Amino acid sequence: MQVTWKLPGGEAVTETVDYGQSLMEAALAHDVSGVVGECGGCLACATCHVYVDPEWAAKCGTAGGFEDAMLDLAEVRRETSRLSCQIEAHPDLDGLVLEVPEA
Ligand code: FES
Repeated sequence: MQVTWKLPGGEAVTETVDYGQSLMEAALAHDVSGVVGECGGCLACATCHVYVDPEWAAKCGTAGGFEDAMLDLAEVRRETSRLSCQIEAHPDLDGLVLEVPEA
């Protein structure tokens, strides 16, 4: 499946992502700048924060309780903020667009 990350400078990166992979892991595999994934995906860092494009928000679902609490630690939280380690690539998300936060 294809995922596009929009970078803060206006550039966009589109990559092929395997089903079952988290979008944090996919970002690291493709060197997407600004997605760090410091805790390895165990919900302890919020360095995998992304903004889901509003058109894709419903398909990505909402943040669970602990993810929601961790997002409060993110620099600038928006309505469509998610931790990308908690979003798994699956066929319904083919074409997904994510925005990487500035901070
Ligand atoms: S990688 Fe640490 S919360 Fe997602």
